[in-house]
Amino acid sequence: MKPKLLDLFCGAGGAGMGFSRAGFEVVGVDIKPQPRYPFEFHQADALEYLAEHYQEFDVIHASPPCQRYSRITKVTGNPENHPDLLQPSVDALKKTGKPYIVENVPGAPMENYLMLCGTMFGLHVFRHRLFMCNPQIIMSPMSCNHDDRSSNGGKNGDQKHPEAKYITVTSAVSPISKAKKAMGIDWMNRAELVEAIPPAYTEWLGGQMIACLTKHAPDAGESARFTSRFHAESLSTSQALSTLTPRW
Ligand SMILES: C[S@@+](CC[C@H](N)C(=O)[O-])C[C@H]1O[C@@H](n2cnc3c(N)ncnc32)[C@H](O)[C@@H]1O
Repeated sequence: MKPKLLDLFCGAGGAGMGFSRAGFEVVGVDIKPQPRYPFEFHQADALEYLAEHYQEFDVIHASPPCQRYSRITKVTGNPENHPDLLQPSVDALKKTGKPYIVENVPGAPMENYLMLCGTMFGLHVFRHRLFMCNPQIIMSPMSCNHDDRSSNGGKNGDQKHPEAKYITVTSAVSPISKAKKAMGIDWMNRAELVEAIPPAYTEWLGGQMIACLTKHAPDAGESARFTSRFHAESLSTSQALSTLTPRW
């Protein structure tokens, strides 16, 4: 049986797709309808759903809205107009005792994060995202590779530096076909794509999460020894591992 992952603030499923490719059964939750979400979907408030259902899942991922911390909001809007769902999400996830991954943008108040960029996966997109993971045993595949400039959408739908090898995916991005290809996403509309993370990121993280959690839980005895070894080093990691069900 596949391990089950809860995809909170799922949008149209950029993160969910990567976790599915890594080997998880994925269930998504979003406050808005998501007709293009590729997996089981529930329309609900993420933290209310988490409180009611966390015990049904092996790993929980959360992508709370990033507008409060994004550079664009600082330039064109007021961060105070966007609710802070990041800290409440982190607090709620820690309370569950489950393994978790939280994603957000550079500038967000995250602790002990790993930064991923499209160029680490051979994608032609500059898209830095921060991931806070528990257990904290996850590495990035390589450094960024910004060996050419990135094109940006202009005010009138035109594109600055259209010849550039890379593209920056914001709401003005153009052409959308280049942006979809660069993100590795072909099922979303423009608004969904702009909010998404490339599935390659969570395929990488999910694969490592599965490897590190299954490797040490083939039977109850070994699982217990592993858990007690980690208990000495990290209470939160120990708590996370002890919640794993033996079905994977
Ligand atoms: C950054 S997007 C998620 C993108 C997604 N992870 C992906 O890779 O495609 C954040 C999502 O949070 C949703 N959202 C905002 N407030 C929410 C809440 N209270 N409960 C659930 N979802 C919420 C928004 O509708 C939006 O789809």
